[in-house]
Amino acid sequence: MTRTLITGGLVITAAEELTADVLIEDQRIVALASTGSEVAAGWRAERVIDASGKYVIPGGVDAHTHMELPFGGTKASDSFETGTRAAAWGGTTTIVDFAVQQVGDSLRAGLDSWHAKAEGNCAIDYAFHTIVSDVTDEVLKELDLLTESGESTSFKLFMAYPGVFYSDDGKILRAMQRCAGNGGLIMMHAENGIAIDVLVAQALAAGHTDPRYHGEVRRELLEAEATHRAIKLAQVAGAPLYVVHVSAASALAELATARDQGLPVFGETCPQYLFLSTDNLAEPDFEGAKYVCSTPLRPREHQAELWKGLRTDDLQVVSTDHCPFCFVGQKELGRGDFSKIPNGLPGVENRMDLLHQAVVEGRISRRRWIEIACAAPARMFGLYPRKGTIAPGADADVVIYDPTASQTLSAATHHMNVDYSAYEGRQVTGRVQTVLSRGTTVLQDGRWLGRAGHGGFLRRGTCQYLG
Ligand code: URP
Ligand code: ZN
Ligand code: ZN
Ligand code: ZN
Repeated sequence: MTRTLITGGLVITAAEELTADVLIEDQRIVALASTGSEVAAGWRAERVIDASGKYVIPGGVDAHTHMELPFGGTKASDSFETGTRAAAWGGTTTIVDFAVQQVGDSLRAGLDSWHAKAEGNCAIDYAFHTIVSDVTDEVLKELDLLTESGESTSFKLFMAYPGVFYSDDGKILRAMQRCAGNGGLIMMHAENGIAIDVLVAQALAAGHTDPRYHGEVRRELLEAEATHRAIKLAQVAGAPLYVVHVSAASALAELATARDQGLPVFGETCPQYLFLSTDNLAEPDFEGAKYVCSTPLRPREHQAELWKGLRTDDLQVVSTDHCPFCFVGQKELGRGDFSKIPNGLPGVENRMDLLHQAVVEGRISRRRWIEIACAAPARMFGLYPRKGTIAPGADADVVIYDPTASQTLSAATHHMNVDYSAYEGRQVTGRVQTVLSRGTTVLQDGRWLGRAGHGGFLRRGTCQYLG
């Protein structure tokens, strides 16, 4: 048995803050005690990490990533190896990625294919949601089986991308009805893709090919409409609903209304919607392509509403939707036609720091930072308290965070396998110093000590916000 002791740091969880020593045995946290207390003074360990003046926080849980996702004739540029390493550099120790069902195939085949990509390659622990592209009778049975076994207890459906991932309302309702009975959680990409495709064709016919038109045709109203429809379908089915990557204030208002009615409806937003805007999409010389993702970036006024939603708990989770494509050779596929720009932004390495910057700026409290980035995603997807907190019995996924260090985000220094940063040149206060994944130090003072294959697959329970 190996004992590790982290001494003197400010331990922050979603529930409390205290200056405490944390005792780890092998892969688990076994005890916490106030620094200087008699109990803590009696602890001995082979390895002692002095965290005085630092925060001791749970490793981040990023519940929305797309490593190696095939999209738009190319594939996301981070592999499970490079993407999980970058995640750890940024203080994230668990990702939940999306296994994709191909139309005509089973969910099983999609999961097998994603296990093959991830197994033996991850630096941190990982789990899978399943993207359901084809709701059939067989697939409905698989929703039961996968939820029961814990291999995948959440399922993403798309109201967008006709001909690719799109499901019509009947298919969505059938999947929701199934999850009403089996405990699975439906995750929704809420944009009216049928209407958007009409606007895309009209924009291109009018010669509007620049990346900024991506934001214009994917109208806010079409996110709000789809969010409203998804909520009503879930209500008809009697199922819970989790809306992914909420970017529009009016879509958030739909969630808030539903929550005020007591419906089991949850929402996620992403750093790009909190920190970036349509101003980025309008950058000249095709630079706007770097910011093409769906839902799209919105005018800057939406940001304040999203921050408010995070404070009032109308939004529960901040995930990255990390789906990187290099500018050279990948984003460039859409020169002359914005609809051919692969959708997605890099960010898995930046989430914890950007949200800490919001703490520095007084937008959210320290505990809310840990809640939206660690505890809530773990609870939402059945990983709590193994992940997302610092408590006896939890996995020793621990980050020692220097709240006063300053850094400049840049592609020149990040570890994601992508040739640009969406936050290039942005100064933030706070930086990850040391990262433990299940008791193993994977990063220490800027030195990488992790290895591909350390990370293991996580079976999950069902959503822990439901009765
Ligand atoms: O633009 C995005 N979000 N790409 C990833 C796929 C998705 O819809 O989440
Ligand atoms: Zn989506
Ligand atoms: Zn409310
Ligand atoms: Zn996504």
